[in-house]
This record gives sequence, structure tokens and C-alpha cells, in this order.
Amino acid sequence: MRYLDIDTAKKISKIGLGTWQFGSNEWGYGADYAATEAKAIVRRAVELGITLFDTAEIYGFGRSERILGQALGDDIGSIFLATKILPVMPVAPVVQQRGVSSANRLGVRKIDLYQVHQPNPAVRDGTIMRGMRSLQRTGLVDEVGVSNYSLARWVAAENALGSRVLSNQVKFNLVCRKPERELVPYAQSHGRLVMAYSPLAQGLLSGKYDRDNRPTNSVRRSSALFLPDNLERAAGLISALREVTDAHSVTPAQIALAWVIRNPAVVAIPGASNLAQVESNAVAADIDLTDDEYQALTAASDRFHPVTGVASLPAMARTRFGRQKATAA
Ligand SMILES: NC(=O)c1ccc[n+]([C@@H]2O[C@H](COP(=O)([O-])OP(=O)(O)OC[C@H]3O[C@@H](n4cnc5c(N)ncnc54)[C@H](OP(=O)(O)O)[C@@H]3O)[C@@H](O)[C@H]2O)c1
Repeated sequence: MRYLDIDTAKKISKIGLGTWQFGSNEWGYGADYAATEAKAIVRRAVELGITLFDTAEIYGFGRSERILGQALGDDIGSIFLATKILPVMPVAPVVQQRGVSSANRLGVRKIDLYQVHQPNPAVRDGTIMRGMRSLQRTGLVDEVGVSNYSLARWVAAENALGSRVLSNQVKFNLVCRKPERELVPYAQSHGRLVMAYSPLAQGLLSGKYDRDNRPTNSVRRSSALFLPDNLERAAGLISALREVTDAHSVTPAQIALAWVIRNPAVVAIPGASNLAQVESNAVAADIDLTDDEYQALTAASDRFHPVTGVASLPAMARTRFGRQKATAA
């Protein structure tokens, strides 16, 4: 496992573990997964040297935090534990109370990284950062982070906090490369980090899904990326990943992760539906892509144009309607 070169109290692994999947209905992995598999995934991740674990109060309405905290047990002291607050009514007393609730569910006295899950469109960050500052003063929170923030808002949040906002957790993968433009260069030049979520584009970059084999859970059913036409359009990108796999004796998913974390200021937090996946993902931290490989993947990503947004709505409606008709029949 490789770790980030940054001055934090605990070391942060380049590959972490995302835990939205734990106890959440949207991923639909079921009760056995929540009760047993999720814990085994966490235990294996710790054995493999993963120190970065990401959760949120909203994941499974607190279930993810509970499952993660219980699974980490005595190892929690050496883990860099990150959770998030949804900034609804983000006034200081509410932020403090929600921070305490998350810490209780996780079973910790200190949250290593407390992140604002998304920017509140109506309330400026001065309000939530007052609460964050007091949580840092009492010692319940070590580092503050944000998620889904633009660069301007990340900097504004730092000014409001009066100290560094360590990280910005954003969607970053071979399909969504927006963070490359401003966020990654800022993180690299300022001793901050970009935490890449959905680094496998929710499984698309593993290459196991295609037009005839689409995932069925609600997260991916409501994502335009998994529309049959988009899966077909992704074939070139998946082939480019496959072309690199042989040289490293690895899988497309591992190459996709290695591409995301190539910059020293970027870490990735893939989720895992089983033990084999967390094992595979951890290995990706040690893959060194050559410049040629990196550029070939980036070029293949440039050529992938999925239909998204408003343009995808008719197809989304068609697949949903078709599914309902099939179910009714
Ligand atoms: N801040 C935010 O707004 C935000 C938003 C989204 C996610 N996140 C965080 O980021 C984490 C990861 O993002 P994500 O779960 O959306 O997407 P992801 O990590 O790109 O995809 C995870 C899914 O990919 C498949 N997978 C994982 N490893 C694999 C492997 N080695 N080979 C083949 N398939 C593999 C699994 O699904 P199947 O096996 O079912 O295919 C798994 O559930 C979340 O758990 C959460 O902590 C944060």
C-alpha cells in the first residue's frame, strides 16, 4: 500500500474504502451484506494497509457509520476516519450536535476528517465553519473537509474556517475528469488533497457491464451512464483499459484506479460489494502506469461521449417504462 505524503496526524492510504454501500437501500446488497460481508470487507481492508475509510451520516441513515465503527473495533486508533455532515440548517449548535451523533455511531472520540457533504446553495460557509471551528476546538474533529465544492467555494470555506480545509471529495474517474482542471492542481500546490469518489464510475470501468448485462440496483438504474447506448459507447474506453492490463497482470478496474490516483495529491475511495473487490482495489495503489499508458487512457476517455443530462431523459424514461411493463407482465 502507498500513502499520501502530507502532514496529517495519521497516514492516509492512496486507496481507501468508500462505505455508502454499507446498509444502504440504494445499492441493494441486502441484509447479509450489511450484517457480515461489510464487516469482512473492512477487516480485510485493514489487513491490506488501507487506512482511509469514508462514510457519511446519510448513508443508510447512520447504518454505514455504525457498521464501519463496529468493524474497525480496536484498530480505529490507526485509521484515518472520514465522515460527512449534510448541511441542512448548518448553524453552529446543529453542526456540533450532528458531529457528536456521528462520533457516537462510529464509536470514536475524534473524527479525523469531518466533511461538508455538499455546498448549501442558500447558506454561505461562514455559518457551517463556525460549527466546524468549535468542533475542532473541543477536539472532536481533527481536520475539516468539503465535498462537491468548486475551487472558489473551497477557498472561501478555508477563509471562513481560518485554517486549512484539508480535502475536497469529488467525483473523479476516467469518465468524469473535471477535477483535473482546477481542484487537483490546487491540492497539489497547497498541500491539500482531492478524494476521488466513484473512481470506478460505479463499476462501469470494471468492464463487466454491457448492453445485455446492466446493473439493476437503484443507484445505477437512475444513472444515465448505465443506459444501453452509453454502455455501448464505453466499449472503446474499456478496450483501452484492457490493453494496459496485460503489461501489469491486473484487471481493468485496477488500471482505472491507478489512473485516478497517479497525481500525488489524489486518493480514491472505491466501494466494494465483496472481499475480492477490496483485495483487488488495494493492489491498485502499487501500480505505476507509464506516461504512454496514462496518455493512451486519457485519450480514450476524451473519445468517450456518453449521452447525459436532459438529452438522456427520453432513454431513461424508456428503460424505466420498459422495466415496469416487464415486471407487470
Ligand atoms: N461525496 C459524495 O457526494 C459521494 C458520492 C458518491 C460516492 N461517495 C463515496 O465514494 C465511495 C465510492 O463511490 P461509489 O460507490 O459511488 O462508486 P465506485 O467506487 O466507483 O463503485 C463501487 C462499485 O463498483 C463495483 N466494484 C468495486 N470494486 C470492483 C472491482 N475491483 N472489480 C469490479 N467491480 C468493482 C462494485 O459494484 P458491483 O460489484 O455491484 O458492480 C462497487 O459497489 C462511496 O462508497 C462513498 O463513500 C461520495
